[in-house]
Amino acid sequence: MRGLKDRVVVVTGAAGGIGRAICRRFIDEGVRVVALDVNADALKDFAAGLAASDHQLLCVTADITNYGEVKEAIERGVAKFSKLDILVNNAGWDVAAPFLQTEPDLWDKIIAINLKGPLNLHKAALPHLIAAGGGKVVNVASDAGRVGSSGESVYSACKGGLIAFSKTIARECARDNVCVNVVCPGPTDTALLRSFVGEGEYGQKIYEGLKRAIPLKRLGQPDDLPGLIAFLSSDDANFITGQVVSVSGGLTMNS
Ligand SMILES: NC(=O)c1ccc[n+]([C@@H]2O[C@H](COP(=O)([O-])OP(=O)(O)OC[C@H]3O[C@@H](n4cnc5c(N)ncnc54)[C@H](O)[C@@H]3O)[C@@H](O)[C@H]2O)c1
Repeated sequence: MRGLKDRVVVVTGAAGGIGRAICRRFIDEGVRVVALDVNADALKDFAAGLAASDHQLLCVTADITNYGEVKEAIERGVAKFSKLDILVNNAGWDVAAPFLQTEPDLWDKIIAINLKGPLNLHKAALPHLIAAGGGKVVNVASDAGRVGSSGESVYSACKGGLIAFSKTIARECARDNVCVNVVCPGPTDTALLRSFVGEGEYGQKIYEGLKRAIPLKRLGQPDDLPGLIAFLSSDDANFITGQVVSVSGGLTMNS
């Protein structure tokens, strides 16, 4: 893809299912990657399985809900690679439950990770993208934020909020040559999805039901996401901003 080589990206949730696939793709494209995750062990395990050199990868353990940690992580990335061109907000978290069975403490945690986390990253990273003469932001939301999803009320609110926030930042930062777009995965086979559908026979039933409902007749795999994210981060997408694209096998079709 045009214009990716030697760029510098920060990817949050880098040690998760989709995050690992995104980082691998960027490394293949010659991008230098700051891989950020709260789970230090998972990050270590991921880095150990990669053929990336020290010149191409920096792993940083940080909690995206903590602005101080986020700021420090971004500064470490910029100190190592001298600049920052691309931000991919991919970290996310949820626990499935009907809204009336949930309590404010859980809402706070879901909002902190899925909405406030990306705000922290934008605040810390955008000045560096602007200083580099422009850049790309790709926010990983969810189709839950476009069309709703039973059992994911507060998470859906956060992802819908992230979509609206992204469009606003796309407008505010257009003059700085920063493009901001949103990718919405549909059901994708990762730890997060497995925790949502549940284990055992019941979980398998939900899993099979999802497969039947998806026009392309399978669940998403982590490797279904990086192509679009790399494209939106590249020079091939220089005139695309404020857009929302689903990667859902056709489960959702928005006009
Ligand atoms: N899997 C799906 O079906 C699906 C569907 C729609 C949207 N998404 C979105 O895709 C993104 C990636 O999800 P995934 O399926 O790969 O999940 P995952 O659970 O495999 O990975 C999420 C990663 O985020 C990290 N993380 C969580 N809280 C964090 C925090 N406070 N600070 C830093 N890192 C943190 C976790 O440690 C984990 O490595 C998320 O934003 C998720 O909401 C996933």
